[in-house]
Amino acid sequence: MSEAPTLEQLDALEREALAALQQVENSEALHAWRARYFGAKRTEGALEQLMKRIGSLPPEQRPAFGRRANAVKQTLIAAYEQREAHVKTAEMQAALQANALDVTLPGRPIAVGRLHPSTLTLRRIIQIFTRMGFEVYRSPEVETDEMNFTLLNMPPDHPARDMWDTFYTTTPGVILRTHTSPGQIRVMRERSKNGPQPLRVILPGMVYRYEQVTARSESQFNQVEGLVIGRRITMADLKGVFVEFARQMFGSAGQIRFRASYFPFTEPSVEVDVYLGTETERARMLTKGTGWLEIAGAGMVHPTVLRNGGYDPEEWSGFAFGMGPERQAMRLYGINDIRYFWQNDLRFLEQF
Ligand code: PHE
Repeated sequence: MSEAPTLEQLDALEREALAALQQVENSEALHAWRARYFGAKRTEGALEQLMKRIGSLPPEQRPAFGRRANAVKQTLIAAYEQREAHVKTAEMQAALQANALDVTLPGRPIAVGRLHPSTLTLRRIIQIFTRMGFEVYRSPEVETDEMNFTLLNMPPDHPARDMWDTFYTTTPGVILRTHTSPGQIRVMRERSKNGPQPLRVILPGMVYRYEQVTARSESQFNQVEGLVIGRRITMADLKGVFVEFARQMFGSAGQIRFRASYFPFTEPSVEVDVYLGTETERARMLTKGTGWLEIAGAGMVHPTVLRNGGYDPEEWSGFAFGMGPERQAMRLYGINDIRYFWQNDLRFLEQF
């Protein structure tokens, strides 16, 4: 049997524990103190060890010992809680000091994204045409050979197909569109499903050409196709639309010129230049000194194309055009290498 505990041992334990508690300055020490005197998961505390030996006291001394043991326990619990509050406050204070926040410091600047120069230019073009009453359509970038060529009056082996170097896919008859013009067929077919309707649309989007990438030519770029169909649409309408477009886009006095050209899907076909003059530095730069800036290929929609779209060319006529936003962006922003557009170099992109 173990040695009988004494009241003096309880007193000593109390003194020792209280003294030790005064030294406790952080949570870790607090935990250790608690484990030592009250026990932890698998260990017995010092107080419990004494109390367990109560049985070895003569019965008449047990009540007094028990009372004293309980009193010590209460004293230590109270002291512990007090110390705990003190330690917690001190630690919180220290943490606040360490992570002190200077609310007078200026805020961190938020990195703001920018719109790509192509997007900016596309948006300007779209805005100008929508103000003139055009609707915006989208058509697929992965197209059939039939839409991209055949239905645009270029049957297989037509020599004019050589005007566009084409990306073919491994699926026969499926290509990346070389221009936005197949969108003409798609829009016309949709608008003529329940009997042909007049239409006035633009079709912006990416096109692909199997070309050597140089400062002047890329294998992908945007186009904006335009198509207007009605009962008495003439070349004068085409001209009027371009005068207005040039005025809004380039702030020119509105002079434009048509140069005779060739596209299989328009007849007659033209290329459209806008006159910017040679007076200002900017105008000379935009036009390479000639005063004239080429902005689009265009023409009156070929009867075969109208027919392929579901419109009777005896009753309906229309004009179409295709312009390149990157070319216009290069002129507007003075960009001298088309490869910048898709290189995703932030030093370039952050300038817009
Ligand atoms: N699709 C032609 C091209 O990519 C441009 C064009 C569109 C010409 C519509 C006439 C009418 O070169």
